[in-house]
Amino acid sequence: MKRILVTGGLGFIGSHTVVALQNKGFEVVIIDNLSNSKIDVLEKITEITGIKPLFHKIDLRDKAEVRSFFDTNKVAGVIHFAAFKAVGESIQKPLAYYENNIGSLVYLLQEMKNRNIDHFIFSSSCTVYGQADALPINENAPIKKAASTYGNTKQIGEEIIAESCKAYHMNAIALRYFNPIGAHESIKIGELPLGIPQNLIPFITQTAAGLRTELAVFGADYDTPDGTAIRDYIHVVDLANAHIAALERLLNKKNKTNFEFFNVGTGVGSSVLEVITAFEKAAGKPLNYKIVDRREGDITAAYADTTTANKELNWKTEKSLEEALADAWKWQQQQ
Ligand code: WQD
Repeated sequence: MKRILVTGGLGFIGSHTVVALQNKGFEVVIIDNLSNSKIDVLEKITEITGIKPLFHKIDLRDKAEVRSFFDTNKVAGVIHFAAFKAVGESIQKPLAYYENNIGSLVYLLQEMKNRNIDHFIFSSSCTVYGQADALPINENAPIKKAASTYGNTKQIGEEIIAESCKAYHMNAIALRYFNPIGAHESIKIGELPLGIPQNLIPFITQTAAGLRTELAVFGADYDTPDGTAIRDYIHVVDLANAHIAALERLLNKKNKTNFEFFNVGTGVGSSVLEVITAFEKAAGKPLNYKIVDRREGDITAAYADTTTANKELNWKTEKSLEEALADAWKWQQQQ
């Protein structure tokens, strides 16, 4: 049984990927420093799959801890989620973001190189494209100057990985996520935003649950059919499955170059107002919201051209926006 290291494996996307890995027969070891996740997610994963993942509370910024982990744990591949990811916060705390997101990536890659572990899956983001010139966005779209430190850490991260793969003959795939939403059907794991949610869906579900008075819609004067911004909302379970497909591509040596990247989305764009309408239908209740000014740094529209990911990863999304919103609402009602 191949053992896979999942960093950030107690986080939102990480925990769903751990479940998918275990269901596929992989042995999983998680590294997480619990800075943006909770230890009880480990029990929840175990309840879902019946298998308790190995767990090490390690901060990947601690080079010595990373080294000693690899001294005592043999792994066949690494899926790297652990990173800070709040766009707004990243602009206020750039050094913390570079130290964590870039520093830990470098230490991880160094240890993998030293031990010839050459299968690496990187959590990247469609944010690397900025506002793309053409929609839907395919992998040939130019990388634009990041609008946030968070986005820059993803761009720099991809460059570090590409150069390392070339120099040290490693194999890696970066998955450029669009907007992950929803929760596992068991409703035992889901999105756990700490504090005021940054992202749309948790803000919607907390408003519907009465934890927030109303949703502020950031701008209705965009150049879109209903004036609100468009995104590609992908169910987190579909996204987790894309990681399995990418890992198996590397393990089966199907990759065509030693650094590949794929856009992982549904291919469908939904505006904020369309999401609100779909949520009201899924929850069977109206949502309190008001239109306010645009949020700085937001782009007008982004949705994926999924052709390459569908073909090369032999993967496609199976869940709809409505299903994802229904799962997110059920998850919120559990909190
Ligand atoms: C979605 C839409 C907002 C909140 C970012 C990162 C991306 C990834 C996901 C980490 C936008 C609108 C939101 C609210 C609103 N991050 N909105 N009211 O900005 O597309 O992507 O988060 O993995 O890399 O860039 O996601 O959920 O913040 O916003 O109107 O209270 O909802 O303006 O149009 P975003 P989001």
